[in-house]
Amino acid sequence: LPNIGIHHEHSQELRLNQSQLPFIIGVAGGTASGKTSVCHIIVRDLGIDQHRVAMISQDCFYKSLDHTVDPKTYNFDHPDAFDWELMEVTLKDLREGKPTKVPIYDYVTHSRSTEYTSLCAIDIILFEGILVFYEQKIMEYMHMKIFVDTDADLRLSRRILRDIKSRGRDLTSVLTQYQTFVKPAFDDYVLPTKKSADVIIPRGADNTVAIDLIVQHIKSKLGGKTKKIQLKANGAGSSRPTT
Ligand code: ADP
Ligand code: C5P
Repeated sequence: LPNIGIHHEHSQELRLNQSQLPFIIGVAGGTASGKTSVCHIIVRDLGIDQHRVAMISQDCFYKSLDHTVDPKTYNFDHPDAFDWELMEVTLKDLREGKPTKVPIYDYVTHSRSTEYTSLCAIDIILFEGILVFYEQKIMEYMHMKIFVDTDADLRLSRRILRDIKSRGRDLTSVLTQYQTFVKPAFDDYVLPTKKSADVIIPRGADNTVAIDLIVQHIKSKLGGKTKKIQLKANGAGSSRPTT
């Protein structure tokens, strides 16, 4: 899934402390390094009310590709491929606890869907993507920064399987794109952001010790807030996903 979002109908009433800001965790790393998988494990192991956690992919903020542009010649790994302004406005609204619409991106058509994911009153946000540490102003929203560090050969082999299975590609197109755009952009734009991370996870989702340490840290930072979230969840009433 590119992102998970839950809209909470009675969120404003349920928020016990309006001044509490959501805890925002940035998860960067190369393509198919395991960013999404690590986020899923963190959410699972935090063991808190799922309605209060949102996983947002930076890919939701890709600019829609103009019909006149051939996707085979387009560099999806360059920072210019993203709508940084919309990314910032969205993070700002989420941080302020405002109801927020996050775009949905389609890798097959290379464009945004007409639908959105509606989010409201989220307490923990996991924001993952290849370039989430690229812009200083975006990084400033993050309370914790994780870089998922997985060997390039593993990442390429996983990407081949994933892109053929889930993103409508064939072997030749994945390999050509990787050589032309993905690998050079990783070296030029993604890898240099590793130094901005607070924590580096070698081997991604396989590294259960590192993920466990991160989960313990998040729990300790949230402290009473996670208890509050669980209390709120007991009387939460109905909620519905709106993707
Ligand atoms: P990213 O979000 O960094 O692109 P994903 O977590 O989506 O990476 O993983 C990319 C692909 O590799 C997915 O198909 C996923 O199932 C697979 N994958 C990720 N981590 C592992 C792992 N530790 N072992 C085996 N397959 C994995
Ligand atoms: O999930 P992951 O981090 O791998 O997603 C980022 C990758 O998606 C980029 O490396 C980019 O090449 C690829 N992408 C693509 N086609 C698009 C949008 C992104 O191949 N339309």
